[in-house]
Amino acid sequence: MEESSKKEGGQPAATGLRKGLTNYGDNGFSLFLRKAFIKGAGYTDNALDRPVIGIANTGSAYNPCHGNMPQLIEAVKRGIMLAGGLPMDFPTISIHESFAAPTSMYLRNLMSIDTEEMIRAQPMDAVVLIGGCDKTVPAQLMGAASAGIPAIQLVTGSMLTGSHRAERVGACTDCRRFWARYRAEEIDGEEIADVNNQLVASVGTCSVMGTASTMACVTEALGMMVPGGAAPPAVTSDRIRVAERTGATAVALAKQRITPDRIMTEKAFENALRVLLAIGGSTNGIIHLTAMAGRLGIDISLDRLDALGRETPVLMDLKPSGQYYMEDLHKAGGVHALLRQLKPLLHLDTLTVTGRTLGEELEAAGPGFPQEVVRPLAEPIYPQGGIAVLRGNLAPGGAIIKQSAADARLMEHEGRAVVFENLEDLANRIDDEALDVEADDILVLKNIGPIGASMPEAGYMPIPRKLARAGVKDMVRISDGRMSGTASGTIVLHVTPESAIGGPLAYVRSGDRIRISVQRREISLLVSDAELAERAKANPVTAPKAERGYRQLFLKTVTQADKGVDFDFLRARPDGRLDPNAA
Ligand code: FES
Ligand code: MG
Repeated sequence: MEESSKKEGGQPAATGLRKGLTNYGDNGFSLFLRKAFIKGAGYTDNALDRPVIGIANTGSAYNPCHGNMPQLIEAVKRGIMLAGGLPMDFPTISIHESFAAPTSMYLRNLMSIDTEEMIRAQPMDAVVLIGGCDKTVPAQLMGAASAGIPAIQLVTGSMLTGSHRAERVGACTDCRRFWARYRAEEIDGEEIADVNNQLVASVGTCSVMGTASTMACVTEALGMMVPGGAAPPAVTSDRIRVAERTGATAVALAKQRITPDRIMTEKAFENALRVLLAIGGSTNGIIHLTAMAGRLGIDISLDRLDALGRETPVLMDLKPSGQYYMEDLHKAGGVHALLRQLKPLLHLDTLTVTGRTLGEELEAAGPGFPQEVVRPLAEPIYPQGGIAVLRGNLAPGGAIIKQSAADARLMEHEGRAVVFENLEDLANRIDDEALDVEADDILVLKNIGPIGASMPEAGYMPIPRKLARAGVKDMVRISDGRMSGTASGTIVLHVTPESAIGGPLAYVRSGDRIRISVQRREISLLVSDAELAERAKANPVTAPKAERGYRQLFLKTVTQADKGVDFDFLRARPDGRLDPNAA
């Protein structure tokens, strides 16, 4: 038995199992009980008398993006034990993009609450968060930021690419591309069934720069992940080694008591936003970073994002903005290859989970080698950041467009609105041969904001079938919803305030004219204020309500896109106090 436990009569030192002993009044008895129960699993006093490192296990049969969870947990545990800690894995909610109805966004905050409260409730000195699929990483980091104990993120890593008739394919940019070809009757039923077997070639997260890859890259830039932790694919030995390193780092983090608020600072979020812009990252990344920052009392404004975007070029040549996949980024040196190029634009003095600064880690990573996935700063894929912020009478609170994935021809455009009132209306009419729509029109979809429909990724509206058949590949599309990070097109998203609470979008009618100018950062409905007020008066909007349960909580407290779609009561309090349980 170690010295420290002898001193305290066989009880663990100040950390470990002793943490949070309050439930029975008598601390000695509380610990006695705790140890009695954990010994039911066969632990010795020696095993228990050391820093306890929690591991948030998000494995689930419904989540193939987390399909390597057992191997990762084993490696994390090895890393923790080699560094002298005691690993304790525990389950939390898991969310997969395709298996979460009505939307994965609906459940992100619930997962963050689960994560926060289980970290808070159970004795642990630090926590390893294992996530991967889109909403899981932000949910875990939101929860950890609020719980306030040392935390480190591990991601499951990307899936491998597949091959369809000798063509390289990966989820899910190619899912959309092939489905669009099927809709346009360019490929038949047999071929689309063949493609279906090849798009997801292994466990792991989507292989393009979708939300999962985006969150992995920005989390490394934030400093919440071991250096080099973002890029290794799920099934590689490198991924397993990252897991082992993560476990060991968690023990050091616990000993140094480096809490998330010391790493996720305003400067660190600025680095993360730079990376988001430079990778042509998912638009969802903005919502997630805003929500994470909000947990720490840091405000991410759309105007700041836009200002950063004007001076941060897209350097990462990954789909959907470019041509490569995550496994290529890994071979090209991972996120360091990008950070090295972005160095003049980054805050290098930000702290990371290693206890060293981002600048020190970059220095240690060395000079890199020639590769083609990350371009030099002077030869960007796209001269500005991937995302631009638009404002105007249609979106007084802002809207965004992923300009790097849009059609240059449509970024300065005026057209006639073709309006769909909600998702059902869209599904019923979009393929109607009688739909009055032309290629130059602007498709408008209402009621898919946070309150309207828990913000589904339906902002990527399909091109009406008759136009798709005629060869139309892109149109301007506007909504208060989100879009998958794997999608592309001239698509305006996150229109704020949303239509379901009476934002101006609610009053657009088919036939109105709309103007967008990405250059001037403008989105205008060419209808007078008086006319809009008239329409609002004639058809006032009633926001949806729920009788009970989580949905009631969601509808009552969810914020708009510009506040990260977090629940208002989960954001840091205005007095700066982070612990909601504190009096
Ligand atoms: Fe899980 Fe794409 S569906 S990362
Ligand atoms: Mg996605």
